[in-house]
Amino acid sequence: MGQGASGGLGKQGGLPGDRKPGDGAAGDKKEKKFEPPAAPSRVGRKQRKQRGPEAAARLPAVAPLSKCRLRLLKLERVKDYLLMEEEYVASQERLKPSEDKTEEDRSKVDDLRGTPMSVGSLEEIIDEAHGIVSSSTGPEYYVSILSFVDKDQLEPGCSILMHNKVLSVVGILQDEVDPMVSVMKVEKAPLESYADIGGLDAQIQEIKEAVELPLTHPELYEDIGIRPPKGVILYGEPGTGKTLLAKAVANSTSATFLRVVGSELIQKYLGEGPKLVRELFRVADDLSPSIVFIDEIDAVGTKRYDANSGGEREIQRTMLELLNQLDGFDSRGDVKVILATNRIESLDPALLRPGRIDRKIEFPLPDIKTRRRIFMIHTAKMTLAEDVNLEEFVMTKDEFSGADIKAICTEAGLLALRERRMKVTHADFKKAKEKVMFKKKEGVPEGLYM
Ligand SMILES: Nc1ncnc2c1ncn2[C@@H]1O[C@H](COP(=O)(O)OP(=O)(O)O)[C@@H](O)[C@H]1O
Ligand SMILES: [Mg+2]
Repeated sequence: MGQGASGGLGKQGGLPGDRKPGDGAAGDKKEKKFEPPAAPSRVGRKQRKQRGPEAAARLPAVAPLSKCRLRLLKLERVKDYLLMEEEYVASQERLKPSEDKTEEDRSKVDDLRGTPMSVGSLEEIIDEAHGIVSSSTGPEYYVSILSFVDKDQLEPGCSILMHNKVLSVVGILQDEVDPMVSVMKVEKAPLESYADIGGLDAQIQEIKEAVELPLTHPELYEDIGIRPPKGVILYGEPGTGKTLLAKAVANSTSATFLRVVGSELIQKYLGEGPKLVRELFRVADDLSPSIVFIDEIDAVGTKRYDANSGGEREIQRTMLELLNQLDGFDSRGDVKVILATNRIESLDPALLRPGRIDRKIEFPLPDIKTRRRIFMIHTAKMTLAEDVNLEEFVMTKDEFSGADIKAICTEAGLLALRERRMKVTHADFKKAKEKVMFKKKEGVPEGLYM
């Protein structure tokens, strides 16, 4: 534009020189031309020619078209590349090299599984970082105690976790309640209640006074100034309802009920039986008020003879531990003990001396009234025919225990069932009684124990 302007000026400069008189019109024209051009309306790039709408519709010139096409192609290639890259990354995730993947999985499984550890007990602490441990299978080892184990809680005799190979101490087991003991706790109350017991009223009252009342109303005993008995022993012929009564106590009491059978206290390894007794009473103490019921106590509580086999001595030690727990130094305030046995005469007198188990509750064979009650209880849910006369069995001279009566009722029911009858008849009861009595008398073939 500047060029155009200077050219215009040069032309103007030359014009006055060849001006001729006569051609005024031309001069006029030139005069008009001489006018300085209007000032540019805008500064910047050359204004594009304004074309009509039809021009706009026309395709642009060839050169920019090819450029744009190139650009398009280039961008398309970039897009393809990015798509490919995305797919690659995705598939990398999916198709990781198998070793990496298995490695990762294995470490995950390891995390889940943990390393196996063995359980032992600490025998002695040598110094800050070493100790002597023993595993349950026997030998003792001098091993290191890892630094992260809390030394304050470490004491000789406690249960520890050991590394499975090098046996170094890696942890402490806090609560060492023997799983055997936790099984003994009666979680689900037995179904038998006091109402299921025929007769035995005196026995029920006695066990309530000796076991339940001290736990529920200790102040009564304080008022009178006596210490409640530590426990009771139930004894009597088999099948007279000793276990049944204990179950009824467990059913009705709100105290924790722990139940053991004497034979469970006899363990495979030396020292385990007494340990179990200790554990049992410790747990009973933790969960107090509680009742510990040891059925068939004669398994561990027999008189102390000169035992010569290791096993017998171990059983005696178990009983001695029991004695110790019954009147040991630590008072067992809220723990009551119920023992049951068929053979009280074979028990060690030490177990039964006053101060330990001084309440002895005898379970006699049922008398006529009790028999009637027991028959009523066991036939209550049976469908009896009209001709059944239970009095005949109640008044019999044969000796029945509660268990025998139950057996007769069950047997009669089975006989009726055998013939697909809906009702149990008197004949069934008669047959059943004969069968039960026969089994009772002849139950053990002669010469079996020769
Ligand atoms: N007084 C009783 N009242 C009701 N049923 C009894 C009575 N005595 C024994 N039985 C029955 O005999 C069964 C065995 O009694 P149990 O208490 O186990 O005998 P043991 O005295 O040998 O422990 C009980 O399940 C119960 O059905
Ligand atoms: Mg029993």
